[in-house]
Amino acid sequence: MSCKKAYITTPIYYVNDIAHIGHAYTTIIADTLARYSRMSGLETFFLTGTDEHGQKIEHSALERGKTPQEYADEISATFKNLWDDFGISYDKFIRTTDEEHKIGVQKAFLKMKERGDIYKDVYKGHYCISCETFFPKSQLVDDEFCPECGRATSLVEEESYFFRLSNYQDKLLDWYNERPDCILPKSKRNEVIRFVEGGLDDLSITRTSFDWGVKLPPELNDPKHVMYVWLDALMNYVTGLGYGTDEKLMDFWPARVHLIGKDILRFHAIYWPAFLMSLDLPMPKHIAAHGWWTRDGAKMSKSKGNVVNPKEVADAYGLDNFRYFMLREVPFGGDGDFSQKALIDRINSDLGNDLGNLLNRLIGMSGKYFEGRVECSAVGDYYQEELDEVNASLEKLEPLLFDMQLHRYLEELWRPLSIANKAIDMYQPWTLMKEGREKEAMALNGLIATILAKVSIMLDPVMPQTAPKIAAALGFEISYESWTRLIKENAPLGAFVIEKIPPLFPRIEEALLAHSEPESKEAQAPKEEKKAPKASQKEESKKEEGVSLIGIDQFFQTSLKVGTVVKAEEVPKSKKLLLLQVDIGEETPRQVVAGIKEWYSAESLVDTQVCVVANLKPAKLMGMKSEGMLLAAKDADGLSLIRPESPKANGTPIG
Ligand code: MSP
Repeated sequence: MSCKKAYITTPIYYVNDIAHIGHAYTTIIADTLARYSRMSGLETFFLTGTDEHGQKIEHSALERGKTPQEYADEISATFKNLWDDFGISYDKFIRTTDEEHKIGVQKAFLKMKERGDIYKDVYKGHYCISCETFFPKSQLVDDEFCPECGRATSLVEEESYFFRLSNYQDKLLDWYNERPDCILPKSKRNEVIRFVEGGLDDLSITRTSFDWGVKLPPELNDPKHVMYVWLDALMNYVTGLGYGTDEKLMDFWPARVHLIGKDILRFHAIYWPAFLMSLDLPMPKHIAAHGWWTRDGAKMSKSKGNVVNPKEVADAYGLDNFRYFMLREVPFGGDGDFSQKALIDRINSDLGNDLGNLLNRLIGMSGKYFEGRVECSAVGDYYQEELDEVNASLEKLEPLLFDMQLHRYLEELWRPLSIANKAIDMYQPWTLMKEGREKEAMALNGLIATILAKVSIMLDPVMPQTAPKIAAALGFEISYESWTRLIKENAPLGAFVIEKIPPLFPRIEEALLAHSEPESKEAQAPKEEKKAPKASQKEESKKEEGVSLIGIDQFFQTSLKVGTVVKAEEVPKSKKLLLLQVDIGEETPRQVVAGIKEWYSAESLVDTQVCVVANLKPAKLMGMKSEGMLLAAKDADGLSLIRPESPKANGTPIG
């Protein structure tokens, strides 16, 4: 195993709010990267935690009649519990109130001071408590309001220590230029460069007007100052590795990537590297800034009551599905809109149709023709072209991941699935079997299994609960070894008996969920029915939407009859349609065009019984008249025709 290291971080979250999908997004991306790093043999350290000092948090605590420490303990635990609940694979959860962190920050302060980068002066300026940021008057809106959040700033004049940020302007610009991928996406790097080229003022890094923060190093004997929260907070990235206390994890430094939201890019791409330069520590490899999540087009805010609670979404739709959605839906760096419809579409289409169905098709085919056996040894003899195409797609993945193009990663990962689905449609195992080409049919199954195995490995970091289930059905475990064998060396999968597992992505019917948008607790309170649907709520939801109950007479307005398929053929050029003649006890058989080719071959239907809706208005499908409809049930597992349990005379009414 390689002994290279990967250090991955999230921002540390303020403890003045409960977690929402914006926080979950950053954490899920970081978790995905950490999981991939581990799987690919890198020694990985993944840090997350909470940012607990500052005036804003002191205020929030006082408002609730708590001490800042009590309040921080409470909210910090809600973040930690949520990440534990989500199975986030962090190696350390840091709190800025941890003793080791405080000592580390003090040591760093002293070192920067000894180096001549810190001096004492008087600060006059406008401070926004909410953003914990000073702004020059020129940046204020109407000379008073914060340019970031719009809240009123307060004019502050106090003694302060300053960090000589202005000394680092050229060094920072050199770094951005030498390392074009230091800030991702690259467009954000240009923004930062423009800002720094505009000139940097020295940074006030201590405050005297409140108390809730890390004290200055005792050596300075200046107890009225506490440190500026951003100095305190940014330092977590090294104190989390023991900087200033027990430094044995410091060989994980520099970070492979600091994941952040675009709103805190300036702190990470300007202040943090300057602090690191002052401390003689190497620069992080990447600072990656993602975009902002909105809700149905609007900015999420507590006051609007439209904050999306990640736990409720995960409970309603499945944690892995939620993870997949967040990473797939939005190009990294762009803003994204959270809508239930978009989430359901992704689950039903990408996960259910493309992935889940493929596994079901493989289970079905290997069960039907080979008693569940799958052999992969002859795949290359018949399907080398498909394999090459699949491998070419998979090779693109790793660079995409560390270039933060997570949506592209998933898009590219879906290409092999589409190759597999097309191969089944094109080579038709049922035809191969009928023609006695068993070896080819087995190789085709082997191809599908190989593709599913490879995809499950590369999907594991994104969907760590689901991918191992696919692998287990295919008789292997996801690990560094299987990743090396199947992804890096492209070794064959081997032979195994497939395990029949229940559908992984049962179809979600949007209509039933129309009134079930997951909401935060606050948002739910004043509204009527807003919870995710539990079985008992479904009836309720149906009524609400006007899916009204019908009387028995209305039911009998539909004429349902038993019939026998007397002739069946494929519709030329159609992937979905079969043309059937069905005897329903009338003079001539009914012609029915049915979209069932994906699940039934024409031959297999002849002489079987079906249930027909006999009084539908005739319709034309691909130019052919269709005079009825077959009853069928479809889920993520595939489609099944509904048939009488024992043979019935053609034309027998159903009801
Ligand atoms: N405490 C600071 C970070 C210090 S790191 C040294 C902070 N905390 S935060 O809780 O306000 O935000 C943490 C992260 O959540 C940020 O990366 C921010 O971009 C992200 N998000 C908060 N709301 C968001 C959305 N609506 N959408 C996407 N991410 C957003 O900033």
